[in-house]
Amino acid sequence: MARRSVGAELPFIGSLSRSQGQLGRQLAQALRNAVKRGDLKPGELLPSSRVLANSLNVARGVVTEAYEQLVAEGVLESRAKAGTRVSRALGNESTREVTRPMSEATQPKALPRSVAHYEKVADEFSPLPHVPFTISVPVNQTVPEDIWRRIGNRVRARGPGAPAGYDHQQGAEVLREEIADYVRRSRSVHCSANQIVVTSGIQQALYLCCKILLDVGDSVWVEDPAYRGLTAILEHSVPGTNMVPIPVDDEGMDVNVGIEIAKSAKAAFVTPSHQYPLGMPLSMSRRNALLAWAREANAWIVEDDYDSELRYAGHPFPSLQGLDPSRVIYLGTFSKILFPSLRLGYAIVPKGLEKAFCGARALMDRHPPSADQHVLAAFMKEGHLDRHIRKIRGVYAERRLQLTSLIKSAIPSSLAWLQPSDQGMHLILWITTGIDDKMLAKAALEQGVAARAVSTMYASKSNRSGLVLGLGDFSDEQIAYGVNVLAKLILGAHSKK
Ligand SMILES: Cc1ncc(COP(=O)(O)O)c(C=O)c1O
Repeated sequence: MARRSVGAELPFIGSLSRSQGQLGRQLAQALRNAVKRGDLKPGELLPSSRVLANSLNVARGVVTEAYEQLVAEGVLESRAKAGTRVSRALGNESTREVTRPMSEATQPKALPRSVAHYEKVADEFSPLPHVPFTISVPVNQTVPEDIWRRIGNRVRARGPGAPAGYDHQQGAEVLREEIADYVRRSRSVHCSANQIVVTSGIQQALYLCCKILLDVGDSVWVEDPAYRGLTAILEHSVPGTNMVPIPVDDEGMDVNVGIEIAKSAKAAFVTPSHQYPLGMPLSMSRRNALLAWAREANAWIVEDDYDSELRYAGHPFPSLQGLDPSRVIYLGTFSKILFPSLRLGYAIVPKGLEKAFCGARALMDRHPPSADQHVLAAFMKEGHLDRHIRKIRGVYAERRLQLTSLIKSAIPSSLAWLQPSDQGMHLILWITTGIDDKMLAKAALEQGVAARAVSTMYASKSNRSGLVLGLGDFSDEQIAYGVNVLAKLILGAHSKK
């Protein structure tokens, strides 16, 4: 039962209007509404009539009149010495108003389109449960060990992560130094710590790029299919931009098509290491073509490098940023290699753009939370991140092999087949035409198996059906169960065709 001190005020009552008179009735109505909204819970103790009368600056009789009226209605109950409470007989359910989305509720005035858009986004992005095959679920061997906690305790207790005033918008310098060194070694990114803006994951970095680099009426290339975290921003949050979907084939985004249909676009958003969601890298010739176009069109390239650390075979292509640091905004994240709830990533911006990113960042949330930045900086400086990446690469490689071979043995390849790829934390399972991937994803979730439908990531009306299967650190049994559920659903859907 919720506790409230006997002398507490009830701020949701607001002020009573003396000019309207009937203060007792006004107070009773305010209390009735508070119970209905759930601001006051069944069984919750109300202030004594004397205390409430004092805090509202009314005569005590006003409060007793209101209390007595509500007791008579069954909204409150009153017992000698036990005070006045919200009636326990109401039960929690009867007092909670169902929260309907604002756009569905009857509204006297038309709402801005943003309300419906952001409500839809909230549904689309609500996190999947931590069951197979949700992407990026670090458990068991893939969570950073005790060392993360130990560094955290040290840094928070007496180090630079201890409570302090506002910090720099760009992020902690020690962390930016570590990131600059890390991306140089691992991705051939050329930058100084001054060009790095620490963000709340790549998601915030994408939002910042859209806000800063685009103007009303600008065209923007996006891959088709693309990451919804990007297209949902462009659909609404930057008014007046023209999103131009560019088809993806075996070599990644088809740059020639982009040049044909929107040569003077202002920016191209790409996932060149590992096209999201399909998984192929952008070929070298396409990389060169993309950079050549950007120079000629004076356009930006936003390189979303969300999972390049998790490569299981061969050598990765160097980053696009390393090939032309003046044209490319490079985005990286710690969500995949550490854990998504950390919410730390970074944007590496061409010289001269740093200040704009800092300004936009300041308006959004001033700066990233300081303590975790210092924990991460120490984790990197002491060499733990490199070791951790080597370790989780092994774990995910094994999970990947396991999932691949189970799928191949459980589902005939004429009905479902895997997209070849040798990187990352997810696989694409293509499904034969005529089976709806959205229906499959919904039915799987009802049985405790999570998968995202590929068709929802296409801008064009695609009849390609497929599922994004995430590699989390799930147990053998969980993976076998997940494959079994998918196999039954796919075979069942096929037999009904
Ligand atoms: C292609 C792509 N970009 C960006 C992100 C966002 O990552 P975060 O905001 O967690 O850094 C993701 C997350 O899965 C992704 O798949």
